[in-house]
Amino acid sequence: MFFIVLFFLLVTFILIKFRKKFKQKWCRSKVCLVGKTVIVTGANTGIGYETALEFAKRGARVILACRNEERATTARQKIVRETQNENVVVQILNLSSMTSVRKFAKNILDTEERLDILVNNAGVGGLEHSMTSDGLQLLMQINYFGPTLLTMLLIDLLKKSAPSRIINVSSMIARFAKLTPENLNSYTGLVMSYSNSKLDT
Ligand SMILES: NC(=O)c1ccc[n+]([C@@H]2O[C@H](COP(=O)([O-])OP(=O)(O)OC[C@H]3O[C@@H](n4cnc5c(N)ncnc54)[C@H](OP(=O)(O)O)[C@@H]3O)[C@@H](O)[C@H]2O)c1
Repeated sequence: MFFIVLFFLLVTFILIKFRKKFKQKWCRSKVCLVGKTVIVTGANTGIGYETALEFAKRGARVILACRNEERATTARQKIVRETQNENVVVQILNLSSMTSVRKFAKNILDTEERLDILVNNAGVGGLEHSMTSDGLQLLMQINYFGPTLLTMLLIDLLKKSAPSRIINVSSMIARFAKLTPENLNSYTGLVMSYSNSKLDT
């Protein structure tokens, strides 16, 4: 009896392990990005950092759009050291301030000739309720309204650089979102607010 249970446990374990392996999706593209310009928001750490690193490896001009200059500069140094791509720059962007979003976008429009890829990656979770100076719910502004305004301000440059791409980093939890015109700017609790804010902008 013991061996039968052990056998079933072993089979279950192997099935789970392989199911996970087959469900995982890896980007194996090695497309050359020399001559392309990319913005990655929240690029100083986590998914944003790894994304920026990959773009830099492929030769793109990479703009690290971050709220903290020191953390962003450290990330830039690491990326340049690892990729030997010096064409990596830091620009300050704080999504919790629409003034900062507008200033960042203006700077990009004034200085960049093209924009091929915009990655709206920066995001937060688990925030308590608070309002920004723009009168918006903080979590919604950082994850949703800020990236939306940024995208709209850069859309002409993106169109001019076609074929271009906008990538919004979402979350599986967005499938539980219950976003309506009435609760767009409301705090709906720790989990629900996050899932609402991760609906594709
Ligand atoms: N990790 C996961 O399991 C997971 C799962 C699903 C979806 N996601 C999504 O993936 C994205 C990246 O997640 P992550 O795990 O890599 O997160 P992370 O390591 O916490 O990095 C978040 C980034 O966003 C930046 N950020 C936060 N608030 C900002 C603001 N007001 N203005 C500008 N930048 C701001 C952070 O800057 P600072 O370093 O200065 O704080 C940081 O660079 C997020 O949109 C998240 O919702 C993550």
